[in-house]
Amino acid sequence: MPTSPSASYDLASLPVIPLPGRVLLTSPEHFRVAYVINPHMEGNIGEVDHDRAQVQWSALRDTYERLGIEVSVIEGAQGLPDMVFCANQTLPYRTPGGERGVVLSRMYAHQRKPEVAHYAAFFEGEGYKVQALDTDLPGDFEGMGDALWHPGRYLLWGGYGYRTDRGVYERFADKLGFPVLPLRLTDPEFYHLDTCLCPLDEMTALIYPGAFDDEGLDLIRTHFERVIEAPEDEARSLFACNAHSPDGQHVLIQRGCTETNEKLREAGYEVIELDTDEFLKSGGSVFCMKLMFW
Ligand code: ARG
Repeated sequence: MPTSPSASYDLASLPVIPLPGRVLLTSPEHFRVAYVINPHMEGNIGEVDHDRAQVQWSALRDTYERLGIEVSVIEGAQGLPDMVFCANQTLPYRTPGGERGVVLSRMYAHQRKPEVAHYAAFFEGEGYKVQALDTDLPGDFEGMGDALWHPGRYLLWGGYGYRTDRGVYERFADKLGFPVLPLRLTDPEFYHLDTCLCPLDEMTALIYPGAFDDEGLDLIRTHFERVIEAPEDEARSLFACNAHSPDGQHVLIQRGCTETNEKLREAGYEVIELDTDEFLKSGGSVFCMKLMFW
């Protein structure tokens, strides 16, 4: 039975999906700011300190390893300075029946389009069912920059408005059977859903409310029992909501999100502060530098 993007879902009735236990990273040797495709990149062309970026990326990799997450690394490719943001080129999924697949993105910016083939090859090697978007239908889609699985359930949060077109989610629902909750993004500095919504566990999300419309905020509050709000300055300049919890206990987050971290600790999470400021120059932090898969 095809399902359509719906106004709300009863979480308890949706199939349980195990948390992904593996993480994919892309090495940063070719990372730099070479063009401007989001407001954070403005003024930063040529400004990345390469050695610092390498150290910051290695610390992220070490953190996942320390937490017991199996790390795979794709080598960054010359001429693809944004490839290090490996959340964007695909959406891995696991069906309730246990099938592992991946939907390939159609990148919004022409500069990033060639990145996708590298990830398609990786997932082919992993035995995933690799699915491209229908070539005869329009619409961009930027993978796990905009499409986030609800932790532990078969439910997809679908951000749209800047990099991804809403219509793509309707096709996911019809063709792949994904239950999708679409969320409209309203502020160009929060151009991907992962810049303003971080699902921490099945019950809890960290959000920046100013990046959504009222309908979107309602959906978020309906489906997460507990919503932690990041203050505007931390969300905008430190990418507080681009944090990541791989296990529902630890939260990896850019250093210095003082108020957000206090709220996270109060809620029982163990905060791990990381330096990602070289990557912030390109409009990305922890969440976009990794891709979780099964
Ligand atoms: N410079 C990259 C871009 O604009 C940054 C991507 C960050 N990724 C993310 N999921 N927020 O595409």
